[in-house]
Amino acid sequence: MVTTVRPSEFEEIRPGVKAPAKETILTPRFYTTDFEEMAKMDLSANEEELKAILAEFKEDYNRHHFVRNADFDQSWDHIDGETRRLFVEFLERSCTAEFSGFLLYKELGRRLKDTNPLLAECFLLMSRDEARHAGFLNKALSDFNLTLDLGFLTKSRKYTFFKPKFIFYATYLSEKIGYWRYITIYRHLEQHPESRIYPIFKFFENWCQDENRHGDFFDAILKAQPSFLNDWKAKLWCRFFLLSVFATMYLNDLQRSDFYASIGLDARSYDKHVIEKTNNTAARVFPVIIDVDNPAFYESLEICVSNCEQLRAIDETNAIAPVKFLRKLPLYLSNMTQFIKLYFIKPIEVEKQQGCVC
Ligand SMILES: [Fe+2]
Ligand SMILES: [Fe+2]
Repeated sequence: MVTTVRPSEFEEIRPGVKAPAKETILTPRFYTTDFEEMAKMDLSANEEELKAILAEFKEDYNRHHFVRNADFDQSWDHIDGETRRLFVEFLERSCTAEFSGFLLYKELGRRLKDTNPLLAECFLLMSRDEARHAGFLNKALSDFNLTLDLGFLTKSRKYTFFKPKFIFYATYLSEKIGYWRYITIYRHLEQHPESRIYPIFKFFENWCQDENRHGDFFDAILKAQPSFLNDWKAKLWCRFFLLSVFATMYLNDLQRSDFYASIGLDARSYDKHVIEKTNNTAARVFPVIIDVDNPAFYESLEICVSNCEQLRAIDETNAIAPVKFLRKLPLYLSNMTQFIKLYFIKPIEVEKQQGCVC
């Protein structure tokens, strides 16, 4: 491969090793949970489906997929300036998100090995997939003369504790939204190969099938636990998780619309498509979904997008911290108000018997 050494425009912890991006409310999270509660879960209500999913995981369809081919053997120095910065950021965020899945699933596989072997085996096989995804992305970063120190990331990141029920809502949605994100980019570039400026996107078709299978696993787990789906609390929490996932993605992606433009996508249309698809997919298991066609939904999100732009602009000024805080306060309050408004948009009740294995 032809590479030239160039001064890095990124902060490094060692030469060639990128300093992890600063953690904010919008960066990918690392999770931990109550392993004992998870070990005690009774899966008998949907054990057959879970066994079928385990058999699929064992097939390991993507065993030979994540191998770098000749397409990568060239210099990527022509991707430069702002596009290069956005590309590196995209690869880092994706790698961090995949790696966070790997860590959680690996730990669950290890801790549940003796107490809940069916779950443990599924988690271990999913951690195998996530390790491949994270590794492939980290290797892609090396095309831009950088890598992430995943060991350092493991030790340095804060872990968010979620009870098992919330882990399942969150991971179900993140797998399904991941599927829709990858497949949408893949299909777009299939139609517009001239925008495929880097070969990793060619791998997204098989890759997203891993995420889809992972999502199906969490779908099956949720159906094995009717109490996670069939009461008023479940409806409130499902709304909360759907909204949080959609709002986080929208704010993140619109902030990086130049990245999507570099591969010929309009970030707004892309996100709206992914949100609609993920919302419809969630109706297969969640008791409620969000009414994303209600004009109030995107109106509120757009106000948050503009607030976040102003927050970043304030951050870039030379004002002292207390002054910055006072300027930011009304914007934080506005974001909170918009989130509450979003939460109170009447949801769509899913017309089916929840809690049944169907
Ligand atoms: Fe993944
Ligand atoms: Fe996954």
